[in-house]
Formats: sequence, C-alpha cells, structure tokens
Amino acid sequence: MSLTALLVDGLTVRFGSFHAIDDLSLAIDYGEVRAVIGPNGAGKTTLLDVISGITRPKQGRVLFDGREDITGRSEAAIARAGIRRKFQKPSVFEGLTVRQHIAIGAGTGFRRGPEGPALEDRIGEVLETVGLADQAGRLAGELGHGQKQWLEIGMVLASDPRVLMLDEPVAGLTDEETARTAALVRALNRPDRAIVVVEHDMDFVERIADKVTVLHEGRTLFEGPMDKVRADAGVVDVYLGR
Ligand SMILES: Nc1ncnc2c1ncn2[C@@H]1O[C@H](COP(=O)(O)OP(=O)(O)OP(=O)(O)O)[C@@H](O)[C@H]1O
Ligand SMILES: [Mg+2]
Repeated sequence: MSLTALLVDGLTVRFGSFHAIDDLSLAIDYGEVRAVIGPNGAGKTTLLDVISGITRPKQGRVLFDGREDITGRSEAAIARAGIRRKFQKPSVFEGLTVRQHIAIGAGTGFRRGPEGPALEDRIGEVLETVGLADQAGRLAGELGHGQKQWLEIGMVLASDPRVLMLDEPVAGLTDEETARTAALVRALNRPDRAIVVVEHDMDFVERIADKVTVLHEGRTLFEGPMDKVRADAGVVDVYLGR
C-alpha cells in the first residue's frame, strides 16, 4: 500500500464571491509525479498556495503524510514539515552566488540542516543533480533563464523535501532546456517523495507525469494517465483544443 503524501479534501477557496477552488478533492501518493494542468485561472497556483500555507481555504482540509492536518498552518511550519515549492514567478537573489542559494535552501529543511562538511557535501550533490556544479561561484543574476529555474529547483531540493511542488518549471525554456528539466524531475522521483508539477507544456507533462489532474474552474475535470487525458473530449474542449 502506498501512503498518501497529500490528501486534499473538499477544498474551497473564495476571493470575494468568486470560487477559485470549488469543493476540490484529490490524493497524491509518495513515489508519484503528479501533473496539474488546466486553462489559465483554473486554480492550479491557488491549490499550491493553499497546500503551502499562503492562502487559507474557506472550507476543506489538507492532510499531509496520510494523517497530519496542515490546513491553515503557517508557511514556515509547512515548509519545516517537508513540503517545499518553487514559485511560478522567478525568484532568485540576483546578488548571491549559486552556492549561497543552495546553502540557504539546505538550511530551511524539515530536518535540522546539515553543517560543516555535511553541508558542503549536500551542496555539491545538489549542484551536480541540477547541472550547476560548474556555476557554483557565479552570481544568480548572471545566469540564463533556464539555469535560474534549475537553481530554484536546487534550493527546494537542498532541504530534501517529502513533497516537492513546481509551478511552471519550463515556462520560457528552450526545447533542450525543457528536455533537461524533464530528466531532472524524473531523477528527483523517489518512493518516499511526492512531486507535484503545474505546467502548460503538454509534451513535458507527458514525459514526467505518472498521473495528470486536469483542473477547470476550481474543480477536477479529469484525472488519469496522459494518453487518456489527451483523448478526453471534455479536456480537449476546455483546454487542449484551444
Ligand atoms: N489573491 C487573489 N485575489 C483575487 N483573485 C485571485 C487571487 N489569486 C488568484 N485569483 C483568481 O483565482 C483564479 C485562479 O487563479 P490561479 O492563479 O490559481 O490560476 P492558474 O490555474 O494558476 O492559472 P495560470 O495557468 O494562468 O497560472 C483566477 O481567476 C485568478 O484571477
Ligand atoms: Mg498559475
């Protein structure tokens, strides 16, 4: 039996009278790469905002690790619990080096961060994984767009998260950078980790996702493997056909 990493149960988020998330329920298992797709405004980022403690839902709950109710906890508490996220908008510190970013990421984990040689090992390992080992001393502001995306993934990865959420990791990337990012996401997949990826690039989604959740107007329109998603008339109608 695979343990549920995230259980979203009857979630509703309102902005004024508008339902950004509307009685949404879904379960994401450890060992899974789950893609969340859907048209602009479907509620994808809002869902990540609720899970990461930025937005409070009107109704419903989020259970972590099969049992722990994290609904309404602070962002810091949720990050400490091992749920980490890369934002849709790029957010590197232009004046800090690549290495410093990874060190910051390693220090905010759910376990007490490593120190001394263990910290150096962790930084080296993460830099290798995200393909930035030869950029360690460079300022983040000097990196290309793709490298900045990988740096942000590296920051999240440095804390060794149980749940890793990526909001549009390949937006604006070249085909080659996108292929590298797909290989990276697959390499981060582990039996004791759940990965949630929001993306509009369907070829990328096909390469990474074990299962796809299609959101539309704050609800699940369809859930299943990518080939079934592509074949679903409802999904084609509201999203893929446009
Ligand atoms: N803080 C807010 N106040 C008011 N409305 C909001 C707020 N945040 C999001 N919304 C609205 O909620 C809806 C869902 O937004 P969300 O950002 O979750 O969409 P999305 O699926 O991530 O879209 P995209 O693919 O464009 O990133 C949108 O209509 C958006 O305008
Ligand atoms: Mg979004």
